[in-house]
Amino acid sequence: MSFNVAIDGPAGAGKSTIAKAVAKKMGLIYVDTGAMYRANALYILRNNVGKNDREKMIELSREADVTLKFDGGEQAVFLNGENVNPFIRAEEVGNMASVSSAIPEVRKAIVDTQKRIALDNDVIMDGRDIGTVVLPQADLKIYLTASSYERAKRRYKELQEKGEACDLETIQREIEERDYRDMHRETAPLKQAFDAVLVDSSDMTLDEVIDHIYKLCLEKKGN
Ligand code: DC
Repeated sequence: MSFNVAIDGPAGAGKSTIAKAVAKKMGLIYVDTGAMYRANALYILRNNVGKNDREKMIELSREADVTLKFDGGEQAVFLNGENVNPFIRAEEVGNMASVSSAIPEVRKAIVDTQKRIALDNDVIMDGRDIGTVVLPQADLKIYLTASSYERAKRRYKELQEKGEACDLETIQREIEERDYRDMHRETAPLKQAFDAVLVDSSDMTLDEVIDHIYKLCLEKKGN
């Protein structure tokens, strides 16, 4: 039986950084499921489809084959055979992913792929619906969150370090809009699974969060 850890939470809570670090310490494969929705969204954007054209999004999602490869602990996401890692981190792609991922037809194939990966491998998987839909039988479920202000501040710092122009208020507003969409959609909304451990990182350092989740993993693995 594979060992599965699920980490869900809103955008910018630090899920990927933390999951990556814990994966390394625990010898797990880190699976970033948001990257799959982002690859799908990239395909939609490349085809110049607007946010309101649901039918076209469904049609394009049928054409978009999204797969993952893992090499030395690094995940690469492929869109119809092309490694699209360099293109999926733009804000525009994240915002489109938040819109397109609300469509059940878009989620189906992606969720099936995620389930298959977790069946065959020891994984720590992060996303929005991992503990509730993708891996309801996960050995450990974490719901990682932080206030929207803290999350916006972290994102702002990241963008500044990259030398990208940005504005804190706009980032916070976009984060709150994204939270609202992710939490209020009909299919697989973001919510804390009843058996998930809540971790609020607003007043914790990165190392404190990593250590806390690592200890929870060790406890579960020991059982
Ligand atoms: O985690 P992220 O920012 O890369 O995710 C981008 C979008 O993809 C997010 O706003 C909602 C969607 N998503 C989802 O619906 N389910 C997941 N398991 C992961 C991401």
